[in-house]
Amino acid sequence: METGKLVVLGSINADHILNIEQFPRPGETVIGKQYNVAFGGKGANQAVAAGRSGANIAFIACVGADDIGERIRQQLATDRIDTRPIEAIAESTTGVALIFVNAEGENVIGIDAGANAAVTPEYLSRYQQTIINADALLMQLESPLETVIAAAQLAKQHGTQVILNPAPACALPDDLLAMIDIITPNETEAQRLTGIAINDDQDAARAANVLHDKGIGCVLITLGSRGVWLSENGNGRLVPGFKVRAVDTIAAGDTFNGALVTGLLEGKAMNDAVRFAHAAAAIAVTRPGAQPSVPWREEIDAFLQQQESNC
Ligand code: RIB
Repeated sequence: METGKLVVLGSINADHILNIEQFPRPGETVIGKQYNVAFGGKGANQAVAAGRSGANIAFIACVGADDIGERIRQQLATDRIDTRPIEAIAESTTGVALIFVNAEGENVIGIDAGANAAVTPEYLSRYQQTIINADALLMQLESPLETVIAAAQLAKQHGTQVILNPAPACALPDDLLAMIDIITPNETEAQRLTGIAINDDQDAARAANVLHDKGIGCVLITLGSRGVWLSENGNGRLVPGFKVRAVDTIAAGDTFNGALVTGLLEGKAMNDAVRFAHAAAAIAVTRPGAQPSVPWREEIDAFLQQQESNC
């Protein structure tokens, strides 16, 4: 299929995942039910979601000079990702995420950036041609903010569309927001960026308008199992998600973002790209872990066909 070029700039983590009944309270120790190490990181998860769903994608990132970093890099190459802009940083360890998953499939996460901190503006300058040559740049906020800003500036100067998934939640300078074409916060991140708590569609519409006023044409506020509030230049509507039995929501948002950009770069209309991304995320939440849960294109197409035949 004819598709535009995507570059993802972001993080790579080794996820240490412990399944427990309930999250511990301060001072409490809980006994886990299951422990796994899986490949993750918001940047890598989104890159994998894009690669597996059919994008033509390169990934700018860093791993540590350790065994797990090398294994992650090899795995990413099998996910149809151009991994040449991923370097191993001497004397650094690969980023780590410590994740608790409770019986409801919810998670809490703590991160050590490790080699992700080496994705500096100087590092970026080695791969600027990759951004210049791309049609779209997808980023998150697990990389140094100054690098995210520098990459957005470069993309803007060369007509590369800028998509930001503003996770984890963080206040952002107006200069950066003004360079973004599409932003995809969840409810918490939207509140952090706009000061508006998202309790219903009206709140989502108001928050989207605040982001439009900062210069962002397209705002997608993800609302968990309800779907997304999609607002294009102030015209907002809810695009519902698919109902599935969730076992683990790790990387659901990442899968949504990667698949969304794949759909857009194939020329899908925004509504169809959102449906495609909803399908990918719906499959991901039925499986444990971050990258192990991300579906391939054939699975997404089959899921959508099944949904249509159920209508
Ligand atoms: O979004 C999920 C991801 O957040 C995990 O894979 C973890 O590494 C953290 O980056």
